[in-house]
Amino acid sequence: MGRGSDLCLILVMILNSLMMFCNGGITSEFVRKLDKTIDMPLNSDVFRVPPGYNAPQQVHLTQGDVEGKAVIVSWVTQESKGSNTVLYWKENSTKKLKAHGKSNTYKFYNYTSGHIHHCTIRNLEYHTKYYYVVGLGQTERKFWFYTPPQIGPDVAYTFGLIGDLGQSFDSNITLTHYERNPIKGQTVLFLGDLSYADTYPNHDNTRWDTWGRFVERSTAYQPWIWTTGNHELDFAPKIGETKPFKPFTHRYRTPYRASGSTEPFWYSIKRGPAHIIVLASYSAYGKYTPQYTWLEEEFPKVNRTETPWLIVLMHSPWYNSYDYHYMEGETMRVMYEPWFVKNKVDVVFAGHVHAYERSERVSNIAYNVVNGVCSPVKDQSAPVYITVGDGGNLEGLATKMTEPQPEYSAFREASFGHAIFSIRNRTHAYYGWHRNQDGYSVKGDTMWFYNRIWHPTVDSTSSGS
Ligand SMILES: *[C@@H]1O[C@H](CO)[C@@H](O)[C@H](O)[C@H]1NC(C)=O
Ligand SMILES: *[C@@H]1O[C@H](CO)[C@@H](O)[C@H](O)[C@H]1NC(C)=O
Ligand SMILES: *[C@@H]1O[C@H](CO)[C@@H](O)[C@H](O)[C@H]1NC(C)=O
Ligand SMILES: *[C@@H]1O[C@H](CO)[C@@H](O)[C@H](O)[C@H]1NC(C)=O
Ligand SMILES: *[C@@H]1O[C@H](CO)[C@@H](O)[C@H](O)[C@H]1NC(C)=O
Ligand SMILES: [Fe+2]
Repeated sequence: MGRGSDLCLILVMILNSLMMFCNGGITSEFVRKLDKTIDMPLNSDVFRVPPGYNAPQQVHLTQGDVEGKAVIVSWVTQESKGSNTVLYWKENSTKKLKAHGKSNTYKFYNYTSGHIHHCTIRNLEYHTKYYYVVGLGQTERKFWFYTPPQIGPDVAYTFGLIGDLGQSFDSNITLTHYERNPIKGQTVLFLGDLSYADTYPNHDNTRWDTWGRFVERSTAYQPWIWTTGNHELDFAPKIGETKPFKPFTHRYRTPYRASGSTEPFWYSIKRGPAHIIVLASYSAYGKYTPQYTWLEEEFPKVNRTETPWLIVLMHSPWYNSYDYHYMEGETMRVMYEPWFVKNKVDVVFAGHVHAYERSERVSNIAYNVVNGVCSPVKDQSAPVYITVGDGGNLEGLATKMTEPQPEYSAFREASFGHAIFSIRNRTHAYYGWHRNQDGYSVKGDTMWFYNRIWHPTVDSTSSGS
């Protein structure tokens, strides 16, 4: 023994440290107080019903067309149907306009919803502040929103990213941090799992109502772009509820028809400099399915001269190094990843895993069952995959990670928070992730994104590898 084994030991140590270096990614050292995540009680301030007879509540906006010149206004009236009309006008304009919508109700087990109104306002001017009023003839409530700038390659636009929000005390902190972030988000790209009403007995749908009231302070003033998660399924055969997505589809609208989709769960929009594709992790996506056929026809429609930034949203992530939901996104990845690389998607945002993670630009498309080439490789045509499933819902944080950190994982941390994707021009976008424990302007993770078409150079934060 002696000398030889010492040398061996040293070699092993060198190899080990090299491997650590090769891993490259960062598992954050941030130490968080691990409090239990609990839902805000029904008598919380954020759930208060607005005063007045039949006052509109749960007011929310989403984009109403492909180009950003239409907005869908939705709200609920509890006592009676009331008016379906939205009164709206341009800032400082005396010319008031009206748009007429429709309302519906639904039943879920022994729950009956209020009157859910949806009204699309069309032919809006770009880059303009509009005021609007709902509840005409009874209790009127007034809000405002901004339309996006005209679609084009060099307009700036800032998106917020929130996923798996729920309605716990931590959810409220996440929303507050988003609102008070000095980099102001203009539209939220929501990554699925809204209310978590399905975690209550009989999917207690009053928790859909409380959620709608909780987020109104943001959703009434800026559009939230909806992705569906597993908690939107509300599939409960034991109590006779077998129509998937029933509460979600009654309460939330998406402009799916405008982009040629046949279901509300997958669709696309353009907003300023971005083309955004929303995919459905819980609708069929295999070959020949409606979603597959739609996506195949959608990619050729993306015009990077017009919208340089190609963003994809989905609920279940493809690259995830936590123990939770590990490989759940794999079957969709196998189907669609070659298209993402071929079409040079800039970034993919997902939720589902209740933590934060950002990947390197990697792809794993060489594998064909017989060749054994099954490890993700660095690929400058591939998107960065970001998981922001850390909105703060009652299920708590995902803390267990696969070790060692895989090479594809650039940064990961199990903390609640939100992210910001701030497009500056056709080449640059500033990205930041904000953890709830920090001050509003503090960033827990940042990256300058270089556009894959206009500036396709390495933008990895741990580059050199
Ligand atoms: C509306 O009026 C306010 C106050 O006079 C002014 O500051 C603002 O610039 C005006 N906005 C537009 C779009 O004209
Ligand atoms: C629905 O049924 C549950 C028990 O099955 C009961 O606790 C609840 O009060 C009922 N709700 C309504 C609105 O009837
Ligand atoms: C939620 O956050 C807001 C601040 O944004 C605060 O005013 C409110 O009291 C909070 N509510 C609860 C129940 O934590
Ligand atoms: C893409 O958009 C640009 C700018 O709007 C336009 O000039 C061009 O014709 C479009 N290309 C296609 C293939 O439609
Ligand atoms: C695009 O934005 C980046 C970051 O703000 C800036 O450095 C760059 O000069 C801008 N490019 C152009 C052409 O303005
Ligand atoms: Fe989920």
